Amino acid sequence: MPEPVFHYLDGGADDEVTLRRNTNAFDEYELLPSQLSDSSVIRTSTTVLGRDVDWPVMIAPTGASRLFHGDGEPAVARAASQFGMFYGLSTLGTTTIEDAAAAAGSTPLMYQLYVFKDRALTEEWLARCEAAGYAALALTVDTPVAGNRERDFVYGFSAPPRSRLRQVASFLRHPGWLARALIRKDLDMVNVTSSEAAAAGLEAGARTYIERELERSLTWDDVEWLRDKWRGKLVIKGVQTVADCRRAADSGVDAVMISNHGGRQLESAPAPVDCIAPIADALRDRLEIICDGGIRRGNHVVKALALGANACSIGRGYLYALAAGGQPGVERALTLLRAEVERTLALLGCNDVKNLGPHYVQRRL
Ligand code: FNR
Repeated sequence: MPEPVFHYLDGGADDEVTLRRNTNAFDEYELLPSQLSDSSVIRTSTTVLGRDVDWPVMIAPTGASRLFHGDGEPAVARAASQFGMFYGLSTLGTTTIEDAAAAAGSTPLMYQLYVFKDRALTEEWLARCEAAGYAALALTVDTPVAGNRERDFVYGFSAPPRSRLRQVASFLRHPGWLARALIRKDLDMVNVTSSEAAAAGLEAGARTYIERELERSLTWDDVEWLRDKWRGKLVIKGVQTVADCRRAADSGVDAVMISNHGGRQLESAPAPVDCIAPIADALRDRLEIICDGGIRRGNHVVKALALGANACSIGRGYLYALAAGGQPGVERALTLLRAEVERTLALLGCNDVKNLGPHYVQRRL
C-alpha cells in the first residue's frame, strides 16, 4: 500500500495511547488453568445476535476496504463465510449492501450505521438491509466528529487521494493502487453515493461531504427511533460505561459493542477489555456484550469471553491480512486466530467456549 494508506489503517488518535492500551491491557489479565478437564474435543460454536456461529469472533465494520486491497469487502465476506462468523459492513464501505450479502452467502451479516442528516438515506439503508437479510444493525455512536488522527496529516492521507509532494513517490511505487483509485474509481463509498441527494453533495469530495452530512445531534431518542424502524437485532457500537449500556438496554437495544473505535476517536478512552466485567456484572441478563478493540491473539479472545463478553470483534486483525494477501490473506489470519483460540481453550482446560467464566481469569497480582 502507499504509505499514507497504511498509516490510515494502522494509526489512531492523538498520541495513540488508547490505541496501544487496547492491546496491552490484555496483558494485565492471567488465565487460570483447570487441569485434567478432557480437552479431547474443543467446542467453539455458539449463538451471537440470535444466529448460530462456528466461533464468537466477528468481522468489525471498517470503511473503504478497497483502499487496502482491490478485492475489498467481498474478499473479507467470503473469508468470513468460510469461518462461520458474523461479517460487518460499514456505511462507508466500498461495496453495496447487496453485493456484500451475496459474497457472505449464508454467514450472518451486520450493517454498521452512521446516521446522516438526510433521514431518508438511513431509511433507505434499513429497507435494503432487511431485503438483503441482514441479521443486525449496529449504530456507531463514538464518532460525532472525526478523531484527531495525526498520522493522516503527517503522511497526507485524504480521500480521494490528494497529491502532496512528499507522498508522490509513495503513490508512484504502487501503480496498481493508483490505477484503481484514479481510473476504476472503485474507492467510492457506494452505499452513500447510491442516493441521488448524496451523489450531488459528493462533488465536494467524500470526506467533506461526510463530515458535513453526518448527524451530530444524535441522542438516545434517535436510538428509540431506530428501534421502531428496525426489526432485526439492534446493536450500539462505541459505548464503554455501565450507565450508557443501561441506557441502551432501556432503549430496547439487543447488544453493545464495547469499543473506542480501535483508538481512533477519543484519546484516553479506556481499553475495551477493562470495561467488560463491570458491564457484564450489571447487564449480562439484558444485553449481549461484544468486546471490540485491540484483539490480536487467541488468548485475547478467551480472556474477553471469560470476563463476560459474548463475542469479540476484530478490525485491524483482518485488515492487515487483507492488505497483504486479499481473501487468502484474511483466511490465513483467521486460521491462525482460530487455532490460537482452540489451543488456548485446550491449555486452559475449558473444552467449550460456552463454559468460559470469571473463574478462568484474574487481574495480574
Ligand atoms: C474502523 N472502524 C470503523 N468503525 C465503524 O463503526 N465504522 C467504520 O467505518 C469504521 N472504519 C474503520 C476503518 C479502519 C481502517 C479501522 C482500523 C477501523 C473501527 C472498527 O469497526 C473497530 O471498532 C476497530 O477496528 C477495532 O479495533 P482493532 O480490532 O482494529 O484493534
